Amino acid sequence: MTTTTAPPVLTVEDLTVVYEVEEPVTAVRGADLTLHRGEILGLAGESGCGKTTLAYAVNRLHRPPARIASGRITFHDRSGEDVDILALEDRELRAFRWDKLSMVFQGAMNALNPVGTVRAQLRDTLLAHRPRMSRKEVRERSEDVLRRVGVDPRRLGSYPHELSGGMRQRVMIAMAMLLEPQIMIMDEPTTALDVVVQRDILREIVRLRDELDFAVVFITHDLPLLLEISDRIAVMLEGEIVELDTAEGLYRDAKHPYTKKLLGSFPSLSGERGAFIRTGVDETETAAAGASTEERA
Ligand SMILES: Nc1ncnc2c1ncn2[C@@H]1O[C@H](COP(=O)(O)OP(=O)(O)OP(=O)(O)O)[C@@H](O)[C@H]1O
Ligand SMILES: [Mg+2]
Repeated sequence: MTTTTAPPVLTVEDLTVVYEVEEPVTAVRGADLTLHRGEILGLAGESGCGKTTLAYAVNRLHRPPARIASGRITFHDRSGEDVDILALEDRELRAFRWDKLSMVFQGAMNALNPVGTVRAQLRDTLLAHRPRMSRKEVRERSEDVLRRVGVDPRRLGSYPHELSGGMRQRVMIAMAMLLEPQIMIMDEPTTALDVVVQRDILREIVRLRDELDFAVVFITHDLPLLLEISDRIAVMLEGEIVELDTAEGLYRDAKHPYTKKLLGSFPSLSGERGAFIRTGVDETETAAAGASTEERA
């Protein structure tokens, strides 16, 4: 069974999100989306098309002026239970987040608490959800997730400013994996990193997915990157999902003119899928170049 035929883990139906400002903005318009168990679903589209708004709404992390005007969001738990996310009470929602569905936020590199060590931040998240965990279990779990994302467990004692950008990002991914959620939403998780670090991290996300079998919604404006790592790709334009297909199908036979335009705007997209990625890298993404050697050491 491939991931695209696996049972669904999340269903989004007819989701509309409006920013109720002076001139209301419909940032997500009637979105339908099914995420399958263990699938990597790419969500692409240019800046402002509504990717982050959609991700926040799925987590119910949206805040006024954002309002969910319509739709249904259903989480299909491994246990067989269906959870109506929009109907959850606050307490249930807090228990649900991180545990069943976690998110790596856009700009997450700077989302760690600057005055807490990596150890303290992992511990706090663990204990908030698993209050009965022993000190030893907390330590072992923290060390384990760091190892999985390629960070030396000796870094547990480090403060965020002592880590490279790539390592901070890995710690955020470790945090998102901490409670073994069934879905991870990653909003532009690597765009601020240099190319080598970015590729290393992506490779690890794919490997972890293979190992641990969570589903990923991977958000980026970088379509070539998505073609490489995704099982399926949704293309968003002005709040609407205008095309949704397997990466292969999209690459070979894009239907929507906007998708064609997106594909056409990457001159490196010729030849076989997988053979071309990350050649058209943005010049501005070369920050933290010094970090890459440490990452891979
Ligand atoms: N607080 C807000 N008030 C009003 N409009 C907003 C607010 N936040 C976002 N928007 C609008 O909603 C639309 C979607 O924004 P969103 O951040 O979801 O896009 P995005 O696809 O994630 O973009 P990017 O690629 O730049 O991260 C945009 O038109 C944006 O201007
Ligand atoms: Mg965004």
